[in-house]
Amino acid sequence: MQQKILVVGSGGREHALCWKLAQSNKVAQIFCAPGNGGTASEQKTENIAIPVSDFNALMAFAKKHSIDLTVIGPDNPLADGIVDAFEAEGLRVFGPRQAAAKLESSKVFAKQFMQQNQLPTARFAVFDTEAPALAFCRENDWARVIKVDGLALGKGVYVCDSVEECEQALKEIFGTGRFGASASQVVVEERLYGPEISLMVLSDGKTLRPMASSQDYKRRFDGNKGPNTGGMGSYSPAPIYEPYAEAIQQEVIAPLEVALQQAPFEFKGLLYVGVLIHDNKPYILEFNARFGDPETQCLLPRLESDLVDLFNACIDGTLADATMEWTANSAVCVVLTAGSYPESGAKGLPITLKPMPESVVLFHAGTQLQSDQLEAHGGRVLNIVGLGETLEGAASKAYDAIQFVRFDGMAFRRDIAQGVSLCLSS
Ligand code: AMP
Ligand code: GLY
Repeated sequence: MQQKILVVGSGGREHALCWKLAQSNKVAQIFCAPGNGGTASEQKTENIAIPVSDFNALMAFAKKHSIDLTVIGPDNPLADGIVDAFEAEGLRVFGPRQAAAKLESSKVFAKQFMQQNQLPTARFAVFDTEAPALAFCRENDWARVIKVDGLALGKGVYVCDSVEECEQALKEIFGTGRFGASASQVVVEERLYGPEISLMVLSDGKTLRPMASSQDYKRRFDGNKGPNTGGMGSYSPAPIYEPYAEAIQQEVIAPLEVALQQAPFEFKGLLYVGVLIHDNKPYILEFNARFGDPETQCLLPRLESDLVDLFNACIDGTLADATMEWTANSAVCVVLTAGSYPESGAKGLPITLKPMPESVVLFHAGTQLQSDQLEAHGGRVLNIVGLGETLEGAASKAYDAIQFVRFDGMAFRRDIAQGVSLCLSS
């Protein structure tokens, strides 16, 4: 029987999820809550105007429309227990419960989990006030990274060069209250140096199955300069992954699988493992309890297998037997943002869009369709994904297609996937 799916979220990641799910002949219809201007016109898909935080309205919709499977995109509803709420009502849902989503929503919890299970991660200590945290940075010249415990829209991590910068960061965290309850604790950890790999791993509670490797670009400007953002671009596969694939499997994925099997919580869903290669060894930098954005936009166009089968296998505990195949090609995603990004700015600017050339997929993020006029609503607006036999080819496809998109203030990085096959450090 064909299935009806509800996708929760409104970003580029959710558009990519809808796009891939719509290709399955097992999927009849998709609803995206609240969706964006791209999901509004994606095949089989329609938007419904329910915010991601309104669990009761989402559950009522899922019941009324006999939704077979709900897929949760963003971190906040997972941290707030949306999966527990759906399950309590007997509704089928893809994503970790609140207790497992804590691997993302509390950095202290994630670090303690890694430490207890001897998973490779940077040395650290936890503090709940400013003075002892600063004293720790002064005493340990390796302690140069400060992270607020809770979710902070990607802005709660300070990678510092000096004690003075640590002092500044700690003042900002404890002195201004800008992170609210997220900053009741901080992790102070060792600064590691090396290239990063995003590894998205499917989990059914027993088995971990890594998806293809990818890499994202967090800083706003070329050459990894400027403020941190939600992500300015991505590519897949990450060439740096290949030489470390075996080490990552042996030293990260295999022990993580055992640790999760023994944990007091069950992790079902997508576990994003941020890996950094330091001194030739893989370390876990962070976990996210959901698909990465914008990594998902370049990952899913490379997935040959049926995504709805993989989601159902995670829920049913049959992931070990599921088929997951990838095309040999490469994908590069360039994010087009509002001029003011990452600061907020004008909303409702008209977008002109010409048809995309072959081997290019356009995923929307901050767009809305207002009576046939597509509008930019700030932040990350569109994701252009180029596909090609090589990363260079895929990047040219994406960059060449930017000429078909226009809106006032449109901005993007010009160095996404440039030279990565030659120069492996990020
Ligand atoms: P996180 O949210 O923990 O992934 O941190 C965001 C970014 O900060 C990472 O992608 C890294 O680029 C950087 N980062 C985090 N932890 C460290 C660390 N221990 N050493 C160096 N860079 C780090
Ligand atoms: N691209 C990193 C994230 O989704 O958090």
